[in-house]
Amino acid sequence: MNVLVTGGTGYIGSHTCVSLLQAGHSVVIVDNLSNSSRETLEQIESITGEEVMFYENDVTDEKTMDEIFTHHSFDGVIHFAGFKAVGESVNLPSKYYRNNLLSTIVLADLCLKHNVEKFVFSSSATVYGENASPMVESMELLPTTNPYGETKAMSERILSDISKANPNFHVSLLRYFNPVGAHESGLIGESPNGIPNNLMPYVTQVAKGIREKLSVFGDDYDTVDGSGVRDYVHVMDLAEGHIAALEHLEEGVRVYNLGTGKGTSVLELVEAFEQVNQVPVPYDIVQRRPGDLATCFADASKAENELGWTAKRGIQDMCRDAWNYQSRSSQEALSENER
Ligand code: NAD
Ligand code: UFG
Repeated sequence: MNVLVTGGTGYIGSHTCVSLLQAGHSVVIVDNLSNSSRETLEQIESITGEEVMFYENDVTDEKTMDEIFTHHSFDGVIHFAGFKAVGESVNLPSKYYRNNLLSTIVLADLCLKHNVEKFVFSSSATVYGENASPMVESMELLPTTNPYGETKAMSERILSDISKANPNFHVSLLRYFNPVGAHESGLIGESPNGIPNNLMPYVTQVAKGIREKLSVFGDDYDTVDGSGVRDYVHVMDLAEGHIAALEHLEEGVRVYNLGTGKGTSVLELVEAFEQVNQVPVPYDIVQRRPGDLATCFADASKAENELGWTAKRGIQDMCRDAWNYQSRSSQEALSENER
């Protein structure tokens, strides 16, 4: 297939491009580089030995996107482009609604105009809100606590309605749990700007000495050791989940959880990281982070039954590959007042 990948130089998009190319598909990336860099293209090409067509372009710009759709004949679209910082979305809601919703609507309309039948969308486990784990695709979605989460629930709804009205427009909504890790080459991975919001990049930066200590947000949850439990999924497993979703997308709207089905606590993850990599990760226990759930993990059986996809890599692989990427990066320790 000839696949348009929006946000393809970003964290999950770049790993998915590697998997697509290795599965024999061709890839056209559109990214405005608002949260990624051009070097990622060279890394994708060096891992796969394949060439990638790239447009530095904003997906919300319908006119230029129309030209790209006219120039290429796409068989499918995987739509990663979007903003994803939960905290920022609370302070700048219109930035999030505009980018995340408009990009989805523009792409869906162009698919209809250019007869592109397959659309795979990056959704999030956040749409389950305060449902009890394991999260099952058939659950009623509960309100999320922030505009970012709302953009995911609304995009799911918009794409579903467009598909219902247009039987040749097939949609796969992929609800990611907690993507972590990096390609085993260490050439691509997750490199957030500024202070990481998410656990694994924070852990790797502490291990490298870039930050002094991890803050563990709460040890009084009703979980195995009191710290929060999540379903961490290796980004290469996630990437392979997209290929399975695209290749199985024949009709209508499909919804799949992409997770391992297993929960790991913050303290278990820190311990696994220290053991696998033989590097210390000092931490303090601090207050709970507002808005956090105690536990969130997937029922991953639907993707297994319908797509034949399961996560193959375990928490050790995730910790090893995340550290391999971080230790190769040129990012250095910060001085006392930069931290
Ligand atoms: P990322 O920020 O690394 O990648 C997103 C890419 O989209 C970036 O390269 C950015 O430059 C680009 N982009 C943003 N707006 C754009 C626009 N208007 N036009 C063109 N390019 C644009 O994020 P990621 O972690 O790879 O996430 C990819 C998708 O998966 C996002 O939609 C995110 O919301 C979703 N998701 C991520 C997680 C996670 O924990 N990483 C969890 C659930 C869902
Ligand atoms: N945590 C810490 N210290 C940190 C960072 C995180 O203890 O410095 C804890 C959190 O409290 C939580 C766990 O580590 O228990 C995971 O936190 P993350 O921020 O890595 O991930 P979340 O599950 O909170 O959020 C992620 C994505 C969101 C998405 C959500 C649901 O970042 O975008 O999963 O899918 F909405």
